Amino acid sequence: MRYRIVTYGCQMNVHESEKLAGELESMGMTACKDETERADVIVFNTCCIRDNAERRALGNIGVVKAEKKRDPDLIIAVCGCMTQQEGMAEVIKERYPYVDIVLGTRNIFKLPEEIEKVRAARARIKKRSDKRYRAFDTAYPEDYLAADENAPVARTSYPNAWVNIIYGCNNFCTYCIVPYVRGRELSRPMSAVVDEVRRAVDEGYGEITLLGQNVNSYGHDLTGGESFEKLLREVDRIEGKFRVRFMTSHPKDLTDGVIAAMAESDKICSNIHLPVQSGSDKVLKDMNRRYTRDRYFSLIRKLREAMPDIGITTDVMVGFPTESEEDFADTMDLVRRVRFSNAFTFIYSPRKGTPAAAMPQIPYAVKRERIGELIKLQNSVTKELSEDYVGGVFEVLAEDVSPKHEGMLCGRTESGRLATFPGEASRVGEFIKVRVTEARSASLFGVAED
Ligand code: 5AD
Ligand code: SF4
Repeated sequence: MRYRIVTYGCQMNVHESEKLAGELESMGMTACKDETERADVIVFNTCCIRDNAERRALGNIGVVKAEKKRDPDLIIAVCGCMTQQEGMAEVIKERYPYVDIVLGTRNIFKLPEEIEKVRAARARIKKRSDKRYRAFDTAYPEDYLAADENAPVARTSYPNAWVNIIYGCNNFCTYCIVPYVRGRELSRPMSAVVDEVRRAVDEGYGEITLLGQNVNSYGHDLTGGESFEKLLREVDRIEGKFRVRFMTSHPKDLTDGVIAAMAESDKICSNIHLPVQSGSDKVLKDMNRRYTRDRYFSLIRKLREAMPDIGITTDVMVGFPTESEEDFADTMDLVRRVRFSNAFTFIYSPRKGTPAAAMPQIPYAVKRERIGELIKLQNSVTKELSEDYVGGVFEVLAEDVSPKHEGMLCGRTESGRLATFPGEASRVGEFIKVRVTEARSASLFGVAED
């Protein structure tokens, strides 16, 4: 039996697809070699953070209808954030009648049993003794953490291993759907996280990325005084040659202790993704972000004082309902001053059921204009900062063969900068010293020194 998983959205989803794969492989299935190979099971792991993510997923679920018609034995499952949206399970039930299984973000481990039930019911239908079985489960089970600890994972991102540390989000930023589709914060026990990191390092993974919607609030729901700072210090003590990144950090919860732990560690990269969203205090307040632009500037100062080479990336949103021209100018000003190594820029997209979706909206043309200006500014900053790397030698973990340049490898510096350099595919997974010879906007180019 073969399976195909189609993943949308963030790293959390990429990792949850590895868990879905783990479940399917525990049933003896193997992954399709490519998109053309016939699958027995197709899983859509969906995202709903913005309207376009949702439309893309729904569009592709629509497309498999034809495949299902040709191949009635095919089993189709829809998982991930989209399934947890209010009313979405019903929409799928009615509009996509060929979907067999809908499982929410905390029900991944039920996939094998639901597949078995669908198949058993189909076998009975063939004998005309039963009706079709469809599974819809988007509940938040009490025993989720226990089920998750025992679940298999089929990693697909070597030499990077994703490791969850906290699930869910308690913040309710007014634009964001995540707290509604991923439930309340739930930290994994520290010993479980440390064990998983140790195992991945022993298996040869050179880079560990700790994952959570807000990693900085790790441990507040545990009882032994756990915190993100303590977790970083524990992970840093694990023996072996590896590096650690984490995402995502929330500026309101980033403590001096975490900054100190990063600076004092061997393994934690000088790299942070710290979404700012807006440079205007008024908009930040309306977004319920619970920090000011001054607090953000002070965090940037502290990070750079502690780690002068740190790479700082961010998320910025334009077109939030209350964003005036002046507020947008504040965002441009912040982006100009901070000098992010990279910024992920988004046009605000109203999400049903969130407070901001009920406010009067800004015309799309204005949003487009603003994002255009923002991207132009950040591109020029990225290019300038890239030029600072030219002539230097940096340790890069070879992550993959370059998708665009034949005979080349790509990977990142400790600060998170993408680097491309000539090398054999057999060196993927090695730490390589790279001398940077050229900076293009998206990547540094260089040669291996060893
Ligand atoms: N519209 C646009 N962007 C959003 N993000 C979250 N919700 C929305 C939305 N409704 C962005 C934020 C967040 C990133 C993961 O996605 O910038 O940091
Ligand atoms: Fe969404 Fe805010 Fe939670 Fe991030 S911290 S997932 S933006 S609600």
